[in-house]
Amino acid sequence: AQIQKGQFSHFMLKEIFEQPESVVNTMRGRINFDDYTVTLGGLRSHIANIRRSRRIIFVACGTSYHSCVATRALFAELTELPIALELASAFLDERVPVFRDDVCVFVSQSGETKDTLLALQYCKDRGALCLGVTNTVGSTISRETHCGVHINAGPEISVASTKAYTSQYIALTMIALTLSDDNLQKVARRREIIDGLFDLSANIRKALATEPHVKKLATEKLGKAQNLILLGRGYQAATCLEGALKIKEVSYIHAEGIQAGELKHGPLALIDEKMPMMLFMPKDRHYSDSENALKQVTARLGAPIVVCAEDDDTSLFKNLETIRVPQTVDVLQAIVNIVPVQILSYHLSVSRGFDPDSPRNLAKSVTTA
Ligand code: G6P
Repeated sequence: AQIQKGQFSHFMLKEIFEQPESVVNTMRGRINFDDYTVTLGGLRSHIANIRRSRRIIFVACGTSYHSCVATRALFAELTELPIALELASAFLDERVPVFRDDVCVFVSQSGETKDTLLALQYCKDRGALCLGVTNTVGSTISRETHCGVHINAGPEISVASTKAYTSQYIALTMIALTLSDDNLQKVARRREIIDGLFDLSANIRKALATEPHVKKLATEKLGKAQNLILLGRGYQAATCLEGALKIKEVSYIHAEGIQAGELKHGPLALIDEKMPMMLFMPKDRHYSDSENALKQVTARLGAPIVVCAEDDDTSLFKNLETIRVPQTVDVLQAIVNIVPVQILSYHLSVSRGFDPDSPRNLAKSVTTA
């Protein structure tokens, strides 16, 4: 059956608003919220081998790569294995050494991206265990890998990836949870994350409710913006990269995601009262470092839009625009936080007269190297 836009004017907006359901579809039949177990059928016979591996290498492109950036720290924390992240094209350029006791994880919405496929062939040739995380049953990457997980987000039509990102994020989180379910020391942490997954759909719904305010920011405050700097640290570094990519793809504004810790090593030179900025500042263990970043920026007359907790009443935000989102466990906060940025990029595009579903020069699936 042909997929329709329904009440939405574009597939991108429809897919953004589908996320309360698509994230549930990714978890369906896999997480038991009563006994805190996670079962991924596509990995079952390989779990022991993955646990015995000497490193996990994530390989992907574009938004799919950002889902790996977002979950890297969680993998390191729960599996205690060395974790490497590689952009598929750069990975092949560098001829990264890969061994039989490596596990390589290929993340791809389409399952057809040529660069990712070439990297898969390269890793298979070297005897690594190859795992696929795709949204497309029967795709080349899901067929060519030894095992894997389908994200079950449903077909994504818009070129700019939104619901696939949040579902990839959850699929990767579930893999990390599965790999660590034999570790007694991780029980409390795993439970906290699984509880967070239970609440995720409701929290995304609340984040979607920021739309009228975010639309206003896109058309008024950022109406003439030619640049946008996105700042954050910890789990929010991925939000900055993915948010900047979304904005570039559909609104053609030059956007840059920057680790807040790197501000003083260069980007601070860009900051003045005219530079449009966003800062992600959830109540996590990086809060006081983010406070410092905010002070460094406001001292240069920068006035970022702050994405923060619903109930954060710090006086630091007094003269700033804020986007208020529900707080969840640190490792899942980046799923909630990307939602207003997806909405922002959509409205930046539409208000400038562009078609967000088919950005110039881009294709949904890049099948050439
Ligand atoms: C293209 C798309 C991006 C996507 C990337 C990776 O560049 O325009 O939206 O993130 O490919 O695609 P994949 O299907 O491998 O996730």
